[in-house]
Amino acid sequence: MGPEQPANAARGAGTARICYNPAVMKAVILAGGFGTRLRPLTLDTPKPIVPIFDRPFLYYQTDLLRQVPEIDEVILSLNYRPDRIEARVGRGADAGLPVRYVVEPEPLGTGGAIKYASRGIEDTILVFNGDVLTTIDLQEVVRTHRDRHARATIVLTPVENPSAYGLVETDDQGNVRRFLEKPDPEDITCNTINAGIYLLEPETFDRIPDNTPWSIERQYFPSLVERSETFVAYVDRGYWLDIGTPAAYVQAHRDLMRRRCPRGPFASDHATMVHKAGPCDVAPDAQFHGPCFLGAGSVVGPAARIGPETVLGPGCHVGAGAIIEQTILWRDTFVDDDCVVRGAVLGERCRLDHHAEIGPGVILGNDSTIGAHSQVPGTR
Ligand code: GDD
Ligand code: MG
Repeated sequence: MGPEQPANAARGAGTARICYNPAVMKAVILAGGFGTRLRPLTLDTPKPIVPIFDRPFLYYQTDLLRQVPEIDEVILSLNYRPDRIEARVGRGADAGLPVRYVVEPEPLGTGGAIKYASRGIEDTILVFNGDVLTTIDLQEVVRTHRDRHARATIVLTPVENPSAYGLVETDDQGNVRRFLEKPDPEDITCNTINAGIYLLEPETFDRIPDNTPWSIERQYFPSLVERSETFVAYVDRGYWLDIGTPAAYVQAHRDLMRRRCPRGPFASDHATMVHKAGPCDVAPDAQFHGPCFLGAGSVVGPAARIGPETVLGPGCHVGAGAIIEQTILWRDTFVDDDCVVRGAVLGERCRLDHHAEIGPGVILGNDSTIGAHSQVPGTR
């Protein structure tokens, strides 16, 4: 450490103490990315409203935000397909918190988007990346931020390979010492990464230019370190997953169903391993291997075999003798008699004609049709 850099323990000592307004907090969910890695699913359905079982993913985040009583509004920072998100989420009746939309004129990057979405706000802002599934205790994070008089607090999580994330080095006092986005292998010095959850004081946004693409990870966070501001790390060792790839999206369902992530319909000890979200029409000789989830209004024909780790979205139809394993069907998908689907994700309103076979790793976008006896073997 050079002489111009003060000891980490003294960080922020030169800056005025922050007076937090304990009564008010806004949450900003960054939800403007294109969701490229989840295509074709995200062509019609932006990542924040990709379903987990039968609810938009975003609601798993607003469920957490409701832990913090000061949060009185969720601001969705959008640019890609805001129409679709607004149509689904509305003013937030099902999210349990009032929801407001801020649509960027052009993608402003994570930093530019946070500044743009929080115009006029002076109180602490809780920021969530729109694609992280976690069991974090947000009230503990808020407490840490206030106790440490932080200008910024970042949640970290340990991962095996930090290369796809923001690597964050900390010191013994829990201050951030270095932030390195998507590090090269030779730069990986620890296993703690940015979990995509921050508490930020808007007075620090002065360094982000207005209406200019700016990265919170590559520009704003390193600038906090450079200027020795009180930038605190909160390490969470609970469940954490970025659902932004097809493999991770499937894994999220598996982890929820297997209770590795103890949230959602399978979370309680008494939960049945075959969860019906509403009335379903199930043939008496249909077989289920839990865990599996049946959305309201789904139909399962005679001698069909469903599961394990299978999700039928609301209104799905599975014909007689069909086999569906380790597969996620989005709502209103029709699988005809004697089809076999293993390890796939099928979007909304897909149609498989009888005896079609779909193999592991296949992802079909909304409204896809596969003809009778066709075989789509997959890559895994
Ligand atoms: N409004 C807006 N505008 N949102 C954006 C923009 C933008 O220009 N660009 C990205 N986002 C949103 C995405 O929708 C997503 O919710 C979030 O910002 C993060 O973008 P990703 O594209 O998912 O980034 P990542 O997963 O590669 O990396 C980020 O998340 C990791 C944790 O999952 C970084 O923050 C890493 O440091 C972090 O470790
Ligand atoms: Mg991501």
